[in-house]
Amino acid sequence: MIEQYNQQFLIEGHIHFEVGQGGLAKAVIRNSVAQAEVYLQGAHVTSFQPIGSEPVLWLSEDSLFQAGKAIRGGIPVIWPWFGPHPTEETKPQHGFARIMSWSIREARALSQGETLLRLGLSSSTETRAIWPQDFDLTLDITVGVALTVALTAHNQGRESIEVSGALHTYFRVDDVGYIQVEGLESRSYLDKVTGYNRKHQVGPILIDQEVDRIYLETEDECQIVDPLMKRQIHIDKAGSCSTVVWNPWQERAQQMSDFPDDGYKTMVCVETANAAEDVRQIEPGEGHTLMQKISV
Ligand code: BG6
Repeated sequence: MIEQYNQQFLIEGHIHFEVGQGGLAKAVIRNSVAQAEVYLQGAHVTSFQPIGSEPVLWLSEDSLFQAGKAIRGGIPVIWPWFGPHPTEETKPQHGFARIMSWSIREARALSQGETLLRLGLSSSTETRAIWPQDFDLTLDITVGVALTVALTAHNQGRESIEVSGALHTYFRVDDVGYIQVEGLESRSYLDKVTGYNRKHQVGPILIDQEVDRIYLETEDECQIVDPLMKRQIHIDKAGSCSTVVWNPWQERAQQMSDFPDDGYKTMVCVETANAAEDVRQIEPGEGHTLMQKISV
C-alpha cells in the first residue's frame, strides 16, 4: 500500500508516505516552511511544526494507533455529530469520521512552499451501518507557515441532512495554568461540566479546573496566549458559529486510558465547531465547509 501511495502521490521536497505507529499509514509532509504528519485513519493531523518553532499540536504519548480507534491528540475530525449521538447512545461518540480509513485524493505543491494534501471519505456499507445518509467528505490540509484544515461535506442523498461536528484541535502549551484563551470574551456558553447550564464569559478564559464548554454565536478568531512558551497561537475559522474549549483536568485525565495522568497540564482543546445550536442543514446536492487556520 505505502509503495503504491508513494508511486502515485510522492512529491520530492514536500510529501511522502510511511508506515506510522501501530502499522497505520501516514503522510509525512516536510517542505521549506513547515512539517506535519497526517494519519489516513481519521484523516488525522497528528503534528504540525513551522520551521524554527516548537510543535503546535499536543499528541498523547498513550494514544492508541489502531484501526477503528480514535487517536488522542492532534486534530480529530468530528462528523456527522458532535458529542454523543442525539438519540442512540450505542453510536460512537463524536461520529465516525475519526475512526474510518480515508483515501488520498490529491497531493500538490503550492506556491510559497506550501503543500496540499486532500483526503476523502464517501458513504459506504460501513458508514451506512452507523448512519444511513449518502455523503462525500473531503479534508484539505494545507501545510505552510500556517496550517489550514478544511472539511467539506456534500449531501449526495435525496433528503436534507443535519450535521454537527468539529475540528477538535489539541494545542500544546507549556503549563495550562498560565495560559489565556482570548477572543471569546462576553460570549455565552453551555457549561457541560455543570449539566449544560448557560453562562456568560467575563474576560479571557483561564484554565484552573475541568473546562468543557460550547461557546455560542461566535465566528471570531481566538488566540491561545502562552507566556511560558512565549507564543500566541491564532485560530481563524469559517463555517463555524461555535467554539468548544476543553481540558479534562486531573480526575478525568486519570479515567482515560489513552491520556497520561498529568497530560492535562500541557494541552488545551480549542475546537472549531458546529455544535449545540450550530447544527447545519445540508440540502441534496449542496455542501458545507468547516475551516480553521492555525498560525503562531
Ligand atoms: C470534547 C467534548 O469536545 O471532547 C468533551 O466537549 C469530551 O465532552 C472531549 O470529553 C473528548 O471526547 P473523546 O470522545 O475524544 O474522549
